[in-house]
Amino acid sequence: MGKKICMWGFGVGIERAMEMCRDAGIEVLAVLDRDPAKWGAEVQSVPVADPQTLPALAPDAILVICLSFEGVSRQAASLGYGPERVVHFPQNPLEAMRRLAGNYAVCCYDYSCEGETLHTKRRRHQVRGKVVADVPSPHPLDTQRAVVAQLLESYRRATADAKNAPPAYRVGKNWESLLRTTRKDFYDAVDARDVDWLTLRLANFCRNDLSTSILGGEAGFRAFAAHPQQEPWLLQHMDVWRALVDGEHDLSEAAMPPIGNPYGYDVEGWTINWNSFVNHARAFRVLRLLEEEPRPVVAEIGGGFGGFAHQLLRTGRPLTYVNFDLPENLLISSYYLSLAFPEKKILLYDSPDLSLDRAVLEQYDAVLMPNFMLPKLQDRSVEFFINTISFSEMEHATICEYFAQIDRSGERYFYHENLSCHPAYKGFPVAVFPRLTHFRQLFASFVPWHGMDASAIGHSYVAQLFERRAAKTAKRPQAS
Ligand SMILES: C[S@@+](CC[C@H](N)C(=O)[O-])C[C@H]1O[C@@H](n2cnc3c(N)ncnc32)[C@H](O)[C@@H]1O
Repeated sequence: MGKKICMWGFGVGIERAMEMCRDAGIEVLAVLDRDPAKWGAEVQSVPVADPQTLPALAPDAILVICLSFEGVSRQAASLGYGPERVVHFPQNPLEAMRRLAGNYAVCCYDYSCEGETLHTKRRRHQVRGKVVADVPSPHPLDTQRAVVAQLLESYRRATADAKNAPPAYRVGKNWESLLRTTRKDFYDAVDARDVDWLTLRLANFCRNDLSTSILGGEAGFRAFAAHPQQEPWLLQHMDVWRALVDGEHDLSEAAMPPIGNPYGYDVEGWTINWNSFVNHARAFRVLRLLEEEPRPVVAEIGGGFGGFAHQLLRTGRPLTYVNFDLPENLLISSYYLSLAFPEKKILLYDSPDLSLDRAVLEQYDAVLMPNFMLPKLQDRSVEFFINTISFSEMEHATICEYFAQIDRSGERYFYHENLSCHPAYKGFPVAVFPRLTHFRQLFASFVPWHGMDASAIGHSYVAQLFERRAAKTAKRPQAS
């Protein structure tokens, strides 16, 4: 038999709490509220009552809906309900359901209206637990080895040529120290041209230190696997994502593909991690803005493990994705995209003399380059530039150089998400980013994602969208 509970506080969010309880098989006996004016009212047929009726109702637990948890806890304790039976809903609704019922679902709403009447249709997505067991790759190790051998050669050439790059293209202080401390075994394997070692590590990169600071690395995976409670981001990300994609998309589209041994929550059989909805929503909005472009070039600086690129390319819409990243992380995204899309045409780095003219870019689905190749782009050849959670971590001279390159080679939009505040490491908030001559700002806002939004003290991020100013000058040069 399901639990019987009382809710406490006729506050914001109570309707949703009611629905989530019913989904989880929990019976709500009453809503307790200290305000006598509310007694006698009903919420979804459940009466609102005086908290003094609690002992007579004798619920198994209390679900606190209002924000003043401490005060309610004290009053509940005086009525015989200790902390193990008093659960706070607003702080982490899914964790509250996990504590009360064990099983729980993320619910979301489809809306429509007829005149003044709003219709809501609720969809439930069962959270089946965590994906921490290994996720088999669809590609046998031999196939992966052949891909990795190619990527390794490209990586070796990139790191050799990086030594001749101008100072602004050298790795900055933060990333240099991070790579040095987390990739020692990787550098040894590269020196030894150990393709087998590298293949096995890449096949598991989501869970080892090849993904430190781009997907959490080994520490991130271990912390996720060991954490007994439901993390608060899942429901927030789902709500934000549904709103940003106009409720048009299916959960399956946001899921992690089985490349690199991903982990996350199992929601209806799909692996959803912190980045899933974030990258899907970013790609959705980029494609919306480029709706009328027949074959846009989208260039990213610092693409990390390739999550955004994956979402962009997954759609099959004609476009060229270009990534400029440090060679170490470029190797990861190149592996990820090469195995996620074996049928796509991908250009890898092999020489500083490679042409990145528009006509060359258009021959490929993806062009994956070390950062120092950025100046090779033709003037005004990129419809969309994007950078997320990355400029702030670079040297200021590098940020200035990249902005100058975007100003020169960007044709339509430039979007970025970077720190609104100063970090504990050497890093720069957007307030000190340079101005663009040819672009004007269309929009700025805090990013909405858990752990990065305006409430994340010391770690909040701002999103800014720029558009190239209306051309009083000549149109972009023709592709050569
Ligand atoms: C925190 S990760 C963010 C990755 C991805 N954009 C995301 O939002 O998940 C920072 C990225 O910036 C890249 N990066 C750092 N310094 C760079 C530089 N000087 N030039 C280009 N990319 C750089 C890193 O290699 C990494 O891919």
